Amino acid sequence: MGFSVHWSWFAALSCLLLMAGQVRCDCTETNMQIEGGHYKLTKKLQTGSLLIYECPEGYYPFPALTRLCQPNGSWRPAPKRFAPQRCRLAECPDPRVMEYGNVSPPQEKYFVDNETVYECYSGYTMRGSSRRVCLPNGKWSGSTPICSRDTGANCADPGVPAGASRSGSTFGIGDTVTYSCNGNLFLVGSSERVCQENGQWTGKEPACYYRHTYDTPLEVSEAFGSAIKDSLTTLEPVDYTEDGRKIRISKNGTLNIYIAVDISESIEEKHINDARDAITKLITKISSFTVTPNYEIVFFSCEIFEVVSILDFFHNEEELSTIKSKLENFQTDGKDTLGADLNSVFKAFLERMAIMKLRVGEEAFKEHRHILILFTDGAYTLGGSPAPTVAKIKKLVYMDQASEGGVESREEYLDIYIFGIGAEIYDNDLQPLTVGTGGSHYFRMRNIENLQETFDDIIDEEEVKGLCGLHKEYDTASRDSKRKRYPWMAFVITQNEGTSKRCIGSLVSPQFVLTAAHCFAFGVLPEHITVEIDDGQGKVKKVKTLFIHPNYNVNAKANEGVKEFYDYDVALIQLEKDVQISSAARPICIPCTEETSDALKLVGDSTCKQQEQLLLKNHLEKLTFLTRTGNVVDEKDVHAKLGDNRDYCIKHALQATGITTTNVRDVVTDNFLCTGGRTPFRDHIACTGDAGGAVFMNYEHRTIQVALVSWGTKIICKAGGLVESDDTSRDFHINLFKVVPFLKSILGNDNQDDYAPLQFLES
Ligand SMILES: *[C@@H]1O[C@H](CO)[C@@H](O)[C@H](O)[C@H]1NC(C)=O
Ligand SMILES: *[C@@H]1O[C@H](CO)[C@@H](O)[C@H](O)[C@H]1NC(C)=O
Ligand SMILES: *[C@@H]1O[C@H](CO)[C@@H](O)[C@H](O)[C@H]1NC(C)=O
Repeated sequence: MGFSVHWSWFAALSCLLLMAGQVRCDCTETNMQIEGGHYKLTKKLQTGSLLIYECPEGYYPFPALTRLCQPNGSWRPAPKRFAPQRCRLAECPDPRVMEYGNVSPPQEKYFVDNETVYECYSGYTMRGSSRRVCLPNGKWSGSTPICSRDTGANCADPGVPAGASRSGSTFGIGDTVTYSCNGNLFLVGSSERVCQENGQWTGKEPACYYRHTYDTPLEVSEAFGSAIKDSLTTLEPVDYTEDGRKIRISKNGTLNIYIAVDISESIEEKHINDARDAITKLITKISSFTVTPNYEIVFFSCEIFEVVSILDFFHNEEELSTIKSKLENFQTDGKDTLGADLNSVFKAFLERMAIMKLRVGEEAFKEHRHILILFTDGAYTLGGSPAPTVAKIKKLVYMDQASEGGVESREEYLDIYIFGIGAEIYDNDLQPLTVGTGGSHYFRMRNIENLQETFDDIIDEEEVKGLCGLHKEYDTASRDSKRKRYPWMAFVITQNEGTSKRCIGSLVSPQFVLTAAHCFAFGVLPEHITVEIDDGQGKVKKVKTLFIHPNYNVNAKANEGVKEFYDYDVALIQLEKDVQISSAARPICIPCTEETSDALKLVGDSTCKQQEQLLLKNHLEKLTFLTRTGNVVDEKDVHAKLGDNRDYCIKHALQATGITTTNVRDVVTDNFLCTGGRTPFRDHIACTGDAGGAVFMNYEHRTIQVALVSWGTKIICKAGGLVESDDTSRDFHINLFKVVPFLKSILGNDNQDDYAPLQFLES
């Protein structure tokens, strides 16, 4: 802390020197090596360059984490001959603070991979982990072991986390316990907890961190994910039933999200790019919720560089794609990155809030929620502590209503999250700036390379069941990630009378798979069919019932010059059991459901027509379907020819074998979408085995199925794979908007208790 004060004086000076154009000396690399690790320089050996030590996982640089090159050519702090720089094995905080039990082995210090075993004295019982291992991030595995006796108190003994001391040892309603950390550890989380009437302690168990302790991506995604999810779903519309009628109420309210990224010299360029990618990922993920937040996004050093202004959201709606490209186009080079003024960031956010309040009025502003997310190391060198500004923000949002005592609490309207990034993080300055109830608001990250994946995980957990079509975007080419990219993908295998047929299907609800009717020869029974979906509960699923569209009849026009007629080529397969919904198995969105309206962000009472206009609005609509060769799944890109383009596309159906009619509309009814050919775009063509698969489009991170692969004019590829169309080859796909009554009659059927029905739109 004292250190950052010195720095502030120094950086203010160097900003001045810079303007004066003073000549400066270079630093040298003599005596800078680190035993067991290496270092890198942010600006070679020039003034202002930061030397950052790096050690292997489980080690940390000692005694310094970083050194700064000063104008007179010396490093600060200077290397000392009697304390050579080296990589030290990470330590975990002392676990022997446990009360009423023994810790073995007893040691002065505990290092990475050291194991400990915990036992309670007789008469005491244990909660938590009885065995813990010291992890490379400086934390113990598992949870705090607590030995307690039933005293009849209202709350359970909250325990003493490793490295901490606790005062307060009675646990009745209103009793308070306070924590502090021993030695050179510092406390993260709630330092004070109060026993509540419901038997729960307020806040969250604190933890003691060393300067080398950090949070793993998994820990961050769990903690930040659950906290932000709460904010995002408070504005989600809720359904309730009144007199047997389902009513949906949309909530009032606006969500404002302010994001700031530190680009001062103390943060490496790579961190900035990683943070930029992570923000893009975060706002994309947030967009899969029904709520559409307003964004303020800034980068900062001595100055603030506004990338996205929240005020723009009040004139015209900013598209997600515009925000993303603004982020992408932001360049850090050429910007003055000396020093950091964190206070001015908070001041800028405060000012934005004040302007919004003026514009929308006091009453409407009451319905505004604010989430501030900052990526910084906290080494603010200018502008002083942001704490007073944070207090003003609180005052503005809380509207002077005290959080305690009779008045309505407005604490839920403001959250400030801080992600500590960088080689050296100023925890003591940053932690007090976090605001918000519920889960953790302070995260300490060793590297933020995984932050993108961290954010990808945050809202993709099992309890988010309502979000059809939600999937993961990143593709590390592993089979597992493909599963998460297409979590709705299913394979349908029919084995009957010695023949075997494979089709693709799509999970449309936990118990139903949608595929093509022609995948099932006449006489096929549910026991002949298996569905493969890898939901972690056994890949092969048994089938309960097969529903074929009642109008499907392949022979219907055999006498009219259409040997095989594929109109209404749709089937639904009911599984014996619900699929376990997770990030690897989740339904796709289908037309005319409430969930799809939410995914498309249609607010209020939406209609099927609106959805169709949104999804199939252009005369050429880019769509995708999947193909599988062996275990490899690939995406085929095609363009549905609609409107004026349709006639030319479908006329090639007359060239298919078995067609002798001259009226193309006998073959291709209005229920089909047409793709294929090489103009204006070269489409992929369907192969044997692609049938029944979803023809889909991604709409801001949600996948919506608009059709399913039915038939094609030529068999160009029997083995599957990514094959391009020739000039005249065409594929025809059943347009799901045309078979809604069939889908609704089964999936939306609420006169049964076998499965949860999907909510279809009234019209
Ligand atoms: C370089 O400057 C710093 C202050 O900016 C001073 O503390 C230090 O002693 C100087 N070192 C040398 C070698 O002059
Ligand atoms: C704990 O770790 C240190 C460092 O690796 C090792 O020297 C020591 O033997 C370990 N102690 C036990 C009990 O395993
Ligand atoms: C929404 O806002 C309107 C007017 O601003 C108000 O009349 C209504 O009660 C609000 N509804 C809810 C659910 O808060």
